Amino acid sequence: MRSFSALLFAVLLTASRSTLSLVSIPLTKLERTGSYLQGAPHADRARASFLKSRTTTPTSNLAYVQYTTSVGVGSPATYYNLVVDTGSSITFVGTGKKYVRTSTSIPTGQDVNVTYGSGFFSGVEYYDTVTLAADFVITNQSIGDALQYSDFEGVDGIIGVGPVALTQGTLSPDINALIPTIMDNALNQDLIKKQILGVSFAPATAYNDTNGVITYGGIDHALYIGKITHVPVTETSPASAYWGINVTDSTYGTHTIIPQSTAGIVDTGTTQVLLADDFFQVYLDAIPGAYTDDNTGLIVIPSSSVAGMQPLNFKIGGHEFSMDTAAQLIPLDQNTAWGGQDGVQYGIVGYLGTDSGEGFDFVIGQKFMEKYYAVFDGHDNRVGFAYTEHTFSTYSP
Ligand SMILES: *[C@@H]1O[C@H](CO)[C@@H](O)[C@H](O)[C@H]1NC(C)=O
Ligand SMILES: *[C@@H]1O[C@H](CO)[C@@H](O)[C@H](O)[C@H]1NC(C)=O
Repeated sequence: MRSFSALLFAVLLTASRSTLSLVSIPLTKLERTGSYLQGAPHADRARASFLKSRTTTPTSNLAYVQYTTSVGVGSPATYYNLVVDTGSSITFVGTGKKYVRTSTSIPTGQDVNVTYGSGFFSGVEYYDTVTLAADFVITNQSIGDALQYSDFEGVDGIIGVGPVALTQGTLSPDINALIPTIMDNALNQDLIKKQILGVSFAPATAYNDTNGVITYGGIDHALYIGKITHVPVTETSPASAYWGINVTDSTYGTHTIIPQSTAGIVDTGTTQVLLADDFFQVYLDAIPGAYTDDNTGLIVIPSSSVAGMQPLNFKIGGHEFSMDTAAQLIPLDQNTAWGGQDGVQYGIVGYLGTDSGEGFDFVIGQKFMEKYYAVFDGHDNRVGFAYTEHTFSTYSP
C-alpha cells in the first residue's frame, strides 16, 4: 500500500544558482496513505526524549512524514532515497534498497550502530564515493551498510547532517572515533567553501511532492524573502550538541508560552513542533476545548475554536517567527494519513514528554521549516531563519 513515486535522480543545477561551492538539490517529501502516519506524534516525542539523552532507547513504531533526497553511493553510483536529518550525523543506506558495493567500496572493519528517536540500524562501515549532485562527488566517505534496522519503511537510509560530535560512540571496536560527516568531507575536499546547509521546505500539496531544496555549502537567495536572522548555537546542554538554539520568548495570543531564554533544537528529522509539557499546557489551555487525543497523540481543536486561533510566536535572535493558524493545523484531508478520524481538526503542535528546565525544551521540526527557510551554519556555528513565500498562509477547512 505504500507507493512512493520514483526517486528523483535529476539534479537541478541551474546556471544562476550553481557555483562550484554551492549546490542545490531538490527534495522529495514523502507522504503516506492509509494509517502510516499513525503514531508519528509519539515517535516525535520518543525522538525528542532520545535526543536529550543519547543513551535512552526509544520504542516507537515509526510512521512519519519525512524529507528525503537522492544520494548516489559507489562508482558507478547506485542512488538511494535518504532522509535529510539534521538531528544525526551518520550516513547509511540499505534499509530499503540494499547497498550495492563497487570497486570504490572499502570495508573499514568497523561495525556501526545508531539508535534514533524512532528506530535504529546496525551494520558495517565502508568508505565509499558519494554523489550528492553532478560534479559534487565526495570520496572516502564513511557509509553504513544497514544489516539490521527498524522503522525505515519507504526510505533507504539517512543522510546525517548534524554536528560531527554526534558520530562518537557509533563505531565498534573504534568506539571513540569521530567520523567525518558528509559536510566535513565536502569541506575538506574543497567541494564547498563553508560548512553551511540551506534548507527549504514547503507545505506539501500532493502525496509525493518534490517541493523542497537543500543547499550544501551555502544558501540559495531565491528561496527566501528579506534577511536571514541568525542566532548562535546555544551553550545550553544537551541542546548544544545538536543544532540547538535559544528561543527568548514565545507567545500564543496574550498567553506566554516560553517566558525566558530557553534552549531547544531545530531538527529536520522531527515532523511536528514540540513544546515542553508545561509550555504545551499553556497553549492547550488557551484554545477553548482543545485536548490531546490518546489514540493519535495529537492535539484536537474543536472546530468552534479554529476561527479564534491566534498566531504562535517564537522570538529568535530578536525577531518574531510566527506559526499562523494554518501552520498550527493538520489539513483535514490528511487526517487518515495521520491516523485520525474524518472531520476532526488535529493540530501540529505537540508535547515533548518532559517539563521545561532540562536544556532541551522544544523541538522546531519540519512543520515550522515548511514556513521558514533554515540555515545550518557550521562555519559560524549558528542557525538562521528567513521568511519565504509560505510564511503567511490562509486556513481553508
Ligand atoms: C579516509 O577517511 C578516513 C577517516 O574517515 C581516514 O582515516 C583515511 O585516512 C582516509 N583515507 C584516504 C585514502 O583518504
Ligand atoms: C542561551 O540561554 C541561556 C540561558 O537559558 C544562556 O545561558 C546563554 O548565554 C544563551 N545564549 C547562548 C548562545 O547560549
